[in-house]
Amino acid sequence: MSVVFLRRIRLGAAFVLLAYLTLHFSNHALGIVSLDAMAAGRWWFLALWRSAPGTLALYGAIATHGLLALWLLYQRRTLRMPLWEAAQYSLGLALPALLVAHVVATRIAWWRFDVDDPYSRVVLGLWLQSPANGARQALVVVLAWLHACIGVHYWLRFRPWYPRAAPWLFAVALLLPTLALLGFVAAGREVTALARVPGWTEAMLRAVNAPEPAEAAELLAIRRGFLDVYLFALLGVVAARGVRRWRARRRSVRITYPGGRVATTPSGFTILDASRLADVPHASICGGRGRCSTCRVRIVRGLGHVPAPSEAERRVLLRVGAAPDVRLACQTRPFDDVAVQPLLSPTVASADAYGTDARQGREQELAVLFADLRGFTRMAEHKLPYDVVFVLNRYFEAVGLAITRAGGVTNQFTGDGVMALFGIEAGPATGSRQALAAARAMVEGVAALSAELAGDLPTPLRIGIGIHTGPAVVGRMGWGESFYLTAVGDTVHVAARLEQATKDYGAELVVSDDAARRASIDLSAFPEHDLAVRNRAGRIHVRVIDRVAVLPV
Ligand code: FES
Repeated sequence: MSVVFLRRIRLGAAFVLLAYLTLHFSNHALGIVSLDAMAAGRWWFLALWRSAPGTLALYGAIATHGLLALWLLYQRRTLRMPLWEAAQYSLGLALPALLVAHVVATRIAWWRFDVDDPYSRVVLGLWLQSPANGARQALVVVLAWLHACIGVHYWLRFRPWYPRAAPWLFAVALLLPTLALLGFVAAGREVTALARVPGWTEAMLRAVNAPEPAEAAELLAIRRGFLDVYLFALLGVVAARGVRRWRARRRSVRITYPGGRVATTPSGFTILDASRLADVPHASICGGRGRCSTCRVRIVRGLGHVPAPSEAERRVLLRVGAAPDVRLACQTRPFDDVAVQPLLSPTVASADAYGTDARQGREQELAVLFADLRGFTRMAEHKLPYDVVFVLNRYFEAVGLAITRAGGVTNQFTGDGVMALFGIEAGPATGSRQALAAARAMVEGVAALSAELAGDLPTPLRIGIGIHTGPAVVGRMGWGESFYLTAVGDTVHVAARLEQATKDYGAELVVSDDAARRASIDLSAFPEHDLAVRNRAGRIHVRVIDRVAVLPV
């Protein structure tokens, strides 16, 4: 079973636990209303989680999530990891030990000795009889929630809709445990008042069938037994890692980086593990989960010394249009010496630099436009270099203005080509409309420039434009002084291909169906084609527009 598949199972289990926590905290929050409201909420809560399917789902999820966490801990080749991941691991590993007392005193006591655990009994114990336990339990609530929130954030952060939803989710993440704790405090005060009534405590404890001393001793033994087993399992993982490392040390692999730096690691480590162990800065925005592609490297030497990519890695590489010698460093485990060249700047993942989302990169849907001047290279051959620079700068000014006025971001000016991004903030629908409007304005701008320079140009300037909308990773990339906002991924690759296709069709614009649909513009009157794109499965359905002036935008 692949690590990616195991992570998915763990994620499914995590969602069951998240649902449990959310309902549990909501139930606590009812304490703000009254102890009776808490009891009423608890009836529904128990109907769900103490039913046979609820029990199976909850305890199945606890066992699956916990065991897979231990297994993945064993699988990790190095324990060096980003701070957020270290925090999530530490919290996750601490929680079973912190929660066991509460679980044994409630669920296990109920199951083993038919001891009921209504809020009046639990709050009496935690608020009045043992405030230290109560404080610890409140802390556990916060830690469990923090663990869940970190997991959800790092799972969702590449979703295109997440930046918009994040403030709302953050508000819920803050509000729920706060209300739960306030409910606990309010219930504590109510129980304190009730406990002052003579005979209330004794009657309540009788009613819930509080455990006899012998039963309490057995519950304590269960709790200690669990802690022993858990500690044993943790030490087992640590010992197994040590044994594996000791065995692997007998065979090491040398990974050479640009500049001649060498990392020597036991075989079985990923290239990203090697970089981390050797303190070689290496981009890894998703934390080595095979989802962002920012860790990708070119295998400069020793391509035969790495195993073939897994299906999941192959899919990511295909999406970014990677060459055959490019691999994800976090997924590739060389079995012999290799030389590699990281393809993205390590500072892409630097949390202490600009610290913005764009700097760290995020996946989102947007429209990408490519354009270039037709036949300009041939025309430039007969001109002085100063004239070429003058015309190009005027051309870049014309198209740059058209792009920015339409709401886009000019991204790259290379040769006589330009790449622009639309919808980074406004979303793919608006971005697609903006890209089409920019295309029209660019053609008009170039026509006006041609008219102005007619005396110096052998033929009027003509432009070819390709537009496609889809998912891409957007971020600030580059090195040193040369950092700029750009996008990488299949969408960029396709847009570039559509721009090249304008030459084949002798058209001003080729637009993918995806872009036209997002822009809600009917292009059915224009000729349609299916285009093959190199390194991409499936063909792209496009519309060919000879003259952009007739576009309905
Ligand atoms: S670190 Fe994200 S794919 Fe390797």
